[in-house]
Amino acid sequence: MKRILVLGATGSIGTAALDVIRSRPDDFRVAGLAVRSRADEAERLGRTFGAPWFAGEDAAVRAVRETEADLVLVATVGLSGLAPTLAAIERGIPVALATKEVLVAAGALVMSRAKEKGVPILPVDSEHSAIFQCLGDTASRRAIARVTLTASGGPFLDGPADLSAVTPAMAMRHPTWRMGPKVTVDSATMMNKGFEIIEARWLFDVPYDAIDVVIHPESIVHSLVTFADGSTLAQLAPPDMRVPIQYAFSWPDRVPAERAALDLPALGALTFRAPDTARFPALDRVREAAAAGGTRLVALGAADEVAVARFLAGTLAFADIVPLVADVVASMPASPCDSLEAVLAADAAARAEAVRHP
Ligand SMILES: NC(=O)c1ccc[n+]([C@@H]2O[C@H](COP(=O)([O-])OP(=O)(O)OC[C@H]3O[C@@H](n4cnc5c(N)ncnc54)[C@H](OP(=O)(O)O)[C@@H]3O)[C@@H](O)[C@H]2O)c1
Repeated sequence: MKRILVLGATGSIGTAALDVIRSRPDDFRVAGLAVRSRADEAERLGRTFGAPWFAGEDAAVRAVRETEADLVLVATVGLSGLAPTLAAIERGIPVALATKEVLVAAGALVMSRAKEKGVPILPVDSEHSAIFQCLGDTASRRAIARVTLTASGGPFLDGPADLSAVTPAMAMRHPTWRMGPKVTVDSATMMNKGFEIIEARWLFDVPYDAIDVVIHPESIVHSLVTFADGSTLAQLAPPDMRVPIQYAFSWPDRVPAERAALDLPALGALTFRAPDTARFPALDRVREAAAAGGTRLVALGAADEVAVARFLAGTLAFADIVPLVADVVASMPASPCDSLEAVLAADAAARAEAVRHP
């Protein structure tokens, strides 16, 4: 029986996680719940699962410090996931990490603290869960030649040609995944896939130039690993976040799930193509920021949070999200960022710049 603390319990990942826990009462139990603003919903969930709940800006950190858990699911949004991730590592509690922005801003810091403490950081993102599942044993880990992240391409893969008139309602219509607003907009700009390149670099210790992106609109192949001997392994599953969430919860075991497996004849064909980086410049901008690292990566995450919020509030055009982020990143001095204080200072400076940006 694993006691799981769910941070971001009212969100898309949090709801799917509670579904997984409810479906396997002999394997998993809710140790506690944390949310930011929906306290009434947290209270209802707390009663349903017989677990303590926490609400407010610092709820996630308080929950980690005050709850006895065997695993912490970090599924809040943006940099808010960093402090609770570090708090869980400090307490020696394994982390199932959905909040990829934590590794974008502070990958070196988080992974080095986790290594020092011997705390596993388990991927929840479907692509990284796929890679994790393909890697298997340590011999395979030593022989990785390439990692290939698949991307659905988002709602604007094949149009409209002009992205300047895209509205929030249009950007929220993701073709294969139902997710929270921030990650849905990030998928539409492909910033999300850029973040996943950074996430893969830290989770699997592979250099950036060994990480590719391929467009796969069906979202059935969740990612692939090519080994030194030329073999490529892929993980396939229906596009349902409960699959990678359950694997992070049950790891290193696998437990059954009453979900329909893939029906290959019904699928018929799976397609792949190269990303159009002229139409979606986010991938190149992320690779540039990643090459500089440190404060530039913190700025990337911070500026994107502000830009997406501005777009959703109607004060920034969709086509201006990536240029704004690139401008803010370029405006930051490139320096190392290897303490929490340095990350928070760079984050605050980049946010202020992103708010000021026309
Ligand atoms: N959704 C997906 O399918 C998916 C897939 C892969 C990765 N991810 C990643 O997983 C993370 C969560 O995404 P999501 O789509 O589930 O987001 P979401 O639906 O917007 O939910 C966010 C959750 O986090 C809570 N929250 C936000 N700030 C918090 C804080 N400071 N302290 C405590 N709780 C806080 C929210 O609480 P309130 O409801 O009270 O505001 C809500 O429960 C993101 O980093 C995303 O990139 C998501």
